[in-house]
Amino acid sequence: MAKETVTDSLPTASFTETVAFLFKVMAPNIAKGVIIRRPAVVHLAEQWALDTRSIKQVQAFNSKYGKGPLLFNTPFKPMALILDPDDAHRVMEETPEPFATAESAKRSALSHFEPDMALVSHGKAREERRRLNEDVLQSGCPVHGFSRHFMQVIEEEVAALLEVVEQHNHKLDWPLFIDAWNRIVRRVVLGDSARDDHELTQTLIRLRRAANWGFMHPKRKRVRQSFYEQLAHYVDRAEPNSLAALVAGHDADSQARPLQQMPQWLFAFEPAGMATFRALALICAHPEQAKRAQAEANQAATPKPDTTFLKACVLEALRLWPTTPLLLRETTERTRWTQGEMPRNTTLLIHAPYFHRDDRHLEIAHRFAPDTWLSPGSLDDWPLLPFSGGPGICPGRHLVLMVTSAVLAALLKERHIRLDPPDRLSGTQPMPALLSNFHLCFQVTKASGLAEQEATSRL
Ligand code: HEM
Repeated sequence: MAKETVTDSLPTASFTETVAFLFKVMAPNIAKGVIIRRPAVVHLAEQWALDTRSIKQVQAFNSKYGKGPLLFNTPFKPMALILDPDDAHRVMEETPEPFATAESAKRSALSHFEPDMALVSHGKAREERRRLNEDVLQSGCPVHGFSRHFMQVIEEEVAALLEVVEQHNHKLDWPLFIDAWNRIVRRVVLGDSARDDHELTQTLIRLRRAANWGFMHPKRKRVRQSFYEQLAHYVDRAEPNSLAALVAGHDADSQARPLQQMPQWLFAFEPAGMATFRALALICAHPEQAKRAQAEANQAATPKPDTTFLKACVLEALRLWPTTPLLLRETTERTRWTQGEMPRNTTLLIHAPYFHRDDRHLEIAHRFAPDTWLSPGSLDDWPLLPFSGGPGICPGRHLVLMVTSAVLAALLKERHIRLDPPDRLSGTQPMPALLSNFHLCFQVTKASGLAEQEATSRL
């Protein structure tokens, strides 16, 4: 085995490499929109295969510099790119000390609408806020205590969506889907009376658009104030079986800042919708997997919270196209690595697609392999981090998987769904490095309706 040499300073990228890193890795992610995606840029990024270029760039750094981490002296602050699987695990496990979740770019973006959220807090405040999130989202349980009600909400909203789809020439596109999705999210988070509160979602969208620009955009203080007043209204109502009701049980003035945790739940449900739409595309493009998905969906009379294969499909959509592609941490002290020392206040960057799509090590890198998530142990040592990991892991992950898989089941149940056009995604080709959810469309027909159509065309 090669002996590892320990030097005092970590490998540092040259000026040209720093420019390549900023343009090929950072810029496309920032341009796509960090807090809210810009559909036109996502479309271009898919067309121009920008994500393939960024993965290849990080692989090139790894080939040249080995384990890393690789330091970049950017004009803003020192950054270090994690290149080694063990280091990725270490960063996740040693969160929040010495690797704080409250990294400066993240703080600057999220301060537009949730400056006291757990993710951008540190020390005692973070502990209390994280605990509140775990408590309300019931992060220790695969099935949330309100799941029975949530399943009913999903059944009603998907049924309403499918009626609209029928009137829409059987086409299910992103605008129709996200409308229905947001209704589900508002009912789950705020209560049934929030079903049609589009204004609240729009207000949050305005704040997220400003957040995309970080410190470069002035704060929309009045919009934020009115948004929080609307949220407080739902907490006061504390409708049974809503997350708002669980928030109402906490002291509003405590350091946990209960109200300030809520925008994250509303906003983070959007990527869950993106993953659901992409998972549906993956299922449609893979006939064998489609049969398994369909069988699971048809099994239950009503959506069930324990649809394991559909959950695996959502996890695969998140592996192939992670909705949090850049995991950021900030060092709170000087840290020691195999190849040297890293200064305090360095931004650490884990580029999830580099690990998820590493075709040098993963046979499944570019294909749809839901069974990866059904056979524990197969890739345990490899950093697959759709929900991050360690003490900073997404506390909403079980709720997300429950809602997304139940929506898939309700859509697929006794229906034939195909991609429109059918060659939008091909199961026989490697999966693209990016798939724009905004530009996906499906043809949805009742299983019996399709049989009738086929019979008519045979006459
Ligand atoms: C597909 C959907 C989602 C994905 C892929 C996802 C992923 C993640 C990731 C990667 C992080 C860590 C971010 C970081 O370390 O910088 C995170 C944090 C978090 N997520 Fe999610 N999330 C999703 C949806 C949700 C939902 C719907 C909720 C709430 C209902 C939620 C609640 C949170 C919270 C509260 C944190 C902060 C945790 C902390 O500060 O320790 N997420 N999520």
